[in-house]
Amino acid sequence: MVEMVNKAHAAYSAFMEKEADRVPVSTQPSIFAGADACADCHEQAYKIWKNSGHARAIKALERGANLYNDKCLPCHVTGGWVRRGFVNMRRTPELANVQCEACHDASVAHSQNPQKIHPERALCKGGA
Ligand code: HEC
Ligand code: HEC
Ligand code: HEC
Repeated sequence: MVEMVNKAHAAYSAFMEKEADRVPVSTQPSIFAGADACADCHEQAYKIWKNSGHARAIKALERGANLYNDKCLPCHVTGGWVRRGFVNMRRTPELANVQCEACHDASVAHSQNPQKIHPERALCKGGA
């Protein structure tokens, strides 16, 4: 049974991989800065994150040939549910994995001007 489900996922993912190249390339700048942009100022948080499963969440999908399975992706990437977030592994590979902004929300503005623009407290504390 598990094997059947895995096969179905893999087939679906292979189909989605072909479709991935058809998605138009976005001309708008990303609203996500990416974890590396946070590292300089939040060294400790970055280290903790880097050593956590969140930093390699996409690997779990790679192993099962589900890299293009959009039933799995949203929880294993950054911005999987929002416009201008993760699109697919062809278009936005830099948003793979559960990076800082998956929990703290898009923080380009904060990382450029941290004294003035404060980030969200972790979204998961807000009752989501
Ligand atoms: C140029 C330095 C700088 C960069 C880059 C930066 N931050 Fe910050 N961050 C700060 C400073 C300074 C504060 C404390 C001021 C404040 O409370 O907003 C802060 C506060 C925070 C807080 C709130 C901490 C608290 O106790 O409430 C979070 C969460 C956070 N940053 C996340 C991020 C994320 C995610 C990124 C990358 C996308 C990032 N920061 C990039 C300097 C930076
Ligand atoms: C609703 C969010 C969500 C969805 C959808 C989701 N996952 Fe996950 N997945 C998680 C979370 C959270 C973890 C970490 C759980 C833990 O470590 O306790 C995880 C862990 C995993 C792991 C184990 C990773 C490891 O290294 O231990 C695998 C494998 C995995 N997911 C595969 C999948 C596949 C395949 C799909 C789609 C069929 C999928 N996930 C859909 C949230 C999700
Ligand atoms: C899986 C969700 C998640 C991820 C991923 C995550 N954080 Fe957090 N972060 C939290 C939670 C939850 C807290 C504690 C509650 C709060 O203060 O909102 C927190 C607290 C913080 C704080 C407050 C100061 C502190 O140390 O307590 C900073 C700064 C921060 N995170 C930055 C980051 C950065 C930078 C990254 C990526 C390198 C990151 N976080 C990744 C959920 C996350």
